[in-house]
Amino acid sequence: MTGIICGTGSYAPSYIMDNNEIATMVETSDEWIRERTGVATRHIIKGETTVSMACEAAKRALADGKVRAEEVDVIIVSTISSNVILPCTACEVQKELGAVNATCFDMSAACSGFVLAYNTALSYLSGGMYKTALIIGSESLSNLTNWKDRGTCILFGDGAGAAVMRAKEGRMYLPATHSDGIKGNALTCLSRHTPVDAGHMTDPEYYMQMDGQAVFKFAVKRVPEVVNEVLEKNQVDKEEIVWYIMHQANSRIVEAVAKRLEVPIGKFPMNLQEYGNTSSASIAILLDEMKRDGRLMSGQKIIIAGFGAGLTWGAAVLEWEP
Ligand code: UT7
Repeated sequence: MTGIICGTGSYAPSYIMDNNEIATMVETSDEWIRERTGVATRHIIKGETTVSMACEAAKRALADGKVRAEEVDVIIVSTISSNVILPCTACEVQKELGAVNATCFDMSAACSGFVLAYNTALSYLSGGMYKTALIIGSESLSNLTNWKDRGTCILFGDGAGAAVMRAKEGRMYLPATHSDGIKGNALTCLSRHTPVDAGHMTDPEYYMQMDGQAVFKFAVKRVPEVVNEVLEKNQVDKEEIVWYIMHQANSRIVEAVAKRLEVPIGKFPMNLQEYGNTSSASIAILLDEMKRDGRLMSGQKIIIAGFGAGLTWGAAVLEWEP
């Protein structure tokens, strides 16, 4: 028994902030940002919330998979930027969708979040506990961004991606995942609730803080390792993989991973140019785009790989079925 993705959906706020707008807030330039990160624009919430984006992405995924909300047994939302602490985003999504039979919970695994949500749903579905799962990555990172810190504010964006999964007879590919809490200081944020507009929480520690170079080095080393590990674990050759779908953090990271794996960069799709780093939403948004534009096709083997705060990293092999 295994679980397959049978529908995808995504949502990005309509407000687009380009690099020139960022250059009005901090000392930087479009050229620097493009060269060092690959990012040209990012979508930023204006009225949307983590819940509203998650709901929209989820509705689109259900419609795409032709799954009724009442059929969903479990909703897992990965987010580090929920609107409120209680109730959790997944329960808010349940309410909005009318997914009355679902068990709902959030998970916090930052940029590895979509991979870990996928793995969690996969083990429920393959183990027989549930038949239908809805996994969502939704992030309003602009609420956690220190817009005075040029080392971080250039990177992040807002958005949500979702996938519906069904239990199905077939081969289950085992994932590979790791965490290293000792290195957690490389990427921190002391509060999920920075009232940016209220202006009374100005301590930089309450926003995302990052040792960019440490995270960069960690990603470039650990992601190829975990990709090789997941291939070996499942006895899959790297040539069999049609797409390597990485967390969209920085084009230089993706390029370095491709180089270390000795896999052509053309097999590493990217959309970070438009979205920036949307943390747990990034892989799901990219999957949805690739499904809609026809790049993802039935029977293809793909790898998804996430990495980020914690530190955490992981990869999974999927056989694309819808
Ligand atoms: O989802 C996982 C989360 N995070 C990541 O994946 C981030 C991983 N790290 C990175 O993407 C990169 O480290 C950054 C894009 C954050 C920074 O790029 P970098 O090539 O590592 O730059 P750097 O920190 O080594 O800084 C190089 C120079 C410095 O100036 P000096 O000391 O050489 O004079 C910085 O002060 O660039 C300067 N700098 C900037 N200049 C213009 C740093 N940020 C900026 C900026 N605009 N936005």
